[in-house]
Amino acid sequence: MPEPILAVNGLVKHFPVRSGILFKRTIGHVKAVDGVSFDLMKGETLGVVGESGCGKSTLAQVLMRLEEPTAGAAVFEDRDIFTLRGAELRRLRRNIQIVLQDPYTSLNPRMTVGDIIGEPFEIHPEVAPKGSRATKVRELLDVVGLNPEHINRYPHQFSGGQRQRIGIARALALKPKVIICDEPVSALDVSIQAQVMNLLDELQKEFGLSYVFIAHDLSVVRHLSTRVAVMYLGKIVEIGTEDQIYNRPAHPYTQALLSAVPVADPSVRGQRQVIRLEGDVPSPIDPPSGCRFRTRCWKAQDICATEEPGLFMRDGGHLSACHFAEQRSVVP
Ligand SMILES: Nc1ncnc2c1ncn2[C@@H]1O[C@H](COP(=O)(O)OP(=O)(O)OP(=O)(O)O)[C@@H](O)[C@H]1O
Ligand code: SF4
Ligand SMILES: [Mg+2]
Repeated sequence: MPEPILAVNGLVKHFPVRSGILFKRTIGHVKAVDGVSFDLMKGETLGVVGESGCGKSTLAQVLMRLEEPTAGAAVFEDRDIFTLRGAELRRLRRNIQIVLQDPYTSLNPRMTVGDIIGEPFEIHPEVAPKGSRATKVRELLDVVGLNPEHINRYPHQFSGGQRQRIGIARALALKPKVIICDEPVSALDVSIQAQVMNLLDELQKEFGLSYVFIAHDLSVVRHLSTRVAVMYLGKIVEIGTEDQIYNRPAHPYTQALLSAVPVADPSVRGQRQVIRLEGDVPSPIDPPSGCRFRTRCWKAQDICATEEPGLFMRDGGHLSACHFAEQRSVVP
């Protein structure tokens, strides 16, 4: 039985909305993440997919302890990471690392690549004592497929894909167990995306890493993910294995997302049913009552406005949060 390396339970992050010129008053909350639970298993990749603004980056930031949660727990190696302070929090920071979306803004342009990748050693000298740092950085450059001789170059001397490799090397420096990848290939050309995905795949096998892999689009995470969680307005609406999500999705939102994924094979393209979502994503300040997806759902009925569907096993399959969950294949 695989064991969870990270167990997230009831995670909530609300941002206060303030108004007033002289006296700022809280007039509401952005419910960016609103009760998210999942297990990340050792060595697996959990894809997290959803439209812009559904709370993916907030989830990542909270798990990195860059934002404090409003409520909930996340257990890593038997400890709730939100209770850690001081030296224990520093140790956690070694074990959970992040790779960000934009390789152009996430690297300091005034630092050499060697300093960027070696910076984590300043905070964690126990991983690499001063004398061994340059060797370690060269090793990391080599591991991510960059020339170790380029250690003294600056970020602008690298292409987008190479910069993302620098970001990955930096994330690997402290030998983490978990890496949260927040749309690491979204800003890259399609041809480069596959190379970076392959690199992440190889590194996972080599170092036994577990990934939370965030993306906009179901097609991006398919080949890397063991399981996929679909988010809508701060909640997970469906979670299952790659086969369950892509071949037998049960939630209308997942079905709609899948029906919009580009299909390469023209003979299949004509057979698939395209589900067009009506309207925009509602505001996370005042989400719809009951099921948050109901304002855009073609299956909605009265109960959907009054009763929130919980995330549990439905229709004999996997976890989904819909009163009328029904597995069906969208792409033939
Ligand atoms: N620091 C903040 N203060 C207030 N609201 C915030 C803050 N950070 C995020 N939000 C809001 O929380 C919601 C979720 O944002 P988040 O960035 O997590 O979404 P996302 O799924 O990562 O979107 P994208 O796909 O565009 O990156 C949005 O409505 C956003 O405006
Ligand atoms: S609970 Fe109702 S509104 Fe929500 S997804 Fe299911 S059918 Fe649609
Ligand atoms: Mg984001």
